[in-house]
Amino acid sequence: MNTSTSSSAAAPKALPRIAVLATGGTIAGSAADAANTAGYQAGVIGVAQLLAAVPGLDAIAQIHAEQIASIDSKDMSLALWSTLAQRVNDLLASDEIDGVVITHGTDTLEETAYLLHLTVKSAKPCILTAAMRPATALSADGPLNLLNAVTLAASEAAAGQGVLVAFNNRIHCARDVAKVSTYAVDAFQSPEIGALGWVQDGRVEFQRRALRPHTVDAPFTAAGQWPMVEIVTSYAGVSRAAVEALVAAGVDGLVVAGTGNGSIHGGLQQSLAEAAAKGVAVVRASRVGSGHVMHNGAAKDDALGFVSSGTLSPYKARVLLLLALAAGMTDTAGLQDAFDTY
Ligand code: SIN
Repeated sequence: MNTSTSSSAAAPKALPRIAVLATGGTIAGSAADAANTAGYQAGVIGVAQLLAAVPGLDAIAQIHAEQIASIDSKDMSLALWSTLAQRVNDLLASDEIDGVVITHGTDTLEETAYLLHLTVKSAKPCILTAAMRPATALSADGPLNLLNAVTLAASEAAAGQGVLVAFNNRIHCARDVAKVSTYAVDAFQSPEIGALGWVQDGRVEFQRRALRPHTVDAPFTAAGQWPMVEIVTSYAGVSRAAVEALVAAGVDGLVVAGTGNGSIHGGLQQSLAEAAAKGVAVVRASRVGSGHVMHNGAAKDDALGFVSSGTLSPYKARVLLLLALAAGMTDTAGLQDAFDTY
């Protein structure tokens, strides 16, 4: 009797199902000629065309594509953040989807990535990618970045690592990554801390993991009412006018991008202390771009009613302050705990 040998052969493994959510950006940008890498319109090319420019994608994953927005990411809004976070959560909660890739503009990518890092409630991979050159440019970087992002989203190694950014072959943690060049193709770094790993030629390699809690272990949500949180900067000759106007406008939270280790010009510091005394949450960060802001270091935070940002940039400190205030954390000690934790 002939017994089938095929019954003992392993069935071919189904490809991971990856949702690609497009939001616009230079990766979807178009210029009048191929040599133009600065004067172009961002966010005009649709997700189907972005995917069509990437050979070999269908050998890596089954792609489900959605156009969430078509914006230049300088125009990212709190409302769109809520929509995006909701859609990512819905997709990752589905048994039909194994991971998500989001194409985004580079300008505010680090803010969206950190927001999702704290509000996506899934251990499945969630990867952001982007491009510095428009899709129409000579040597456009978008297609390879997108291929690498899908490769990363389809990998088991990316699960449970929080929201990641795949850019120029590197894998960055959403909390650490920052745009560091206005023009270079290698525009993203994780200052002070470094990338988590690499993705290249279909291979994913992590060298380390992020330590701080994120995604399923973070208590935040991007649904509901957003508080008003703004950023002010300390510099030579800065006046109190911006803080006073923002307090008069009803601001709930202020992040100050201080000099050095978060030091603040005397008059500005006084106006921020007065704002804190009126119940405005004040977070002291640094405009330097790397390093950390030590609590009670360059300013006496506890005496002034300030929270220190630690290693978060002013832009990411604003994201955390938005989420913490929205979650009802208003007392200074609770907010400092959130900044020390997330
Ligand atoms: C944008 O952020 O949407 C424009 C710039 C870019 O993507 O590089």
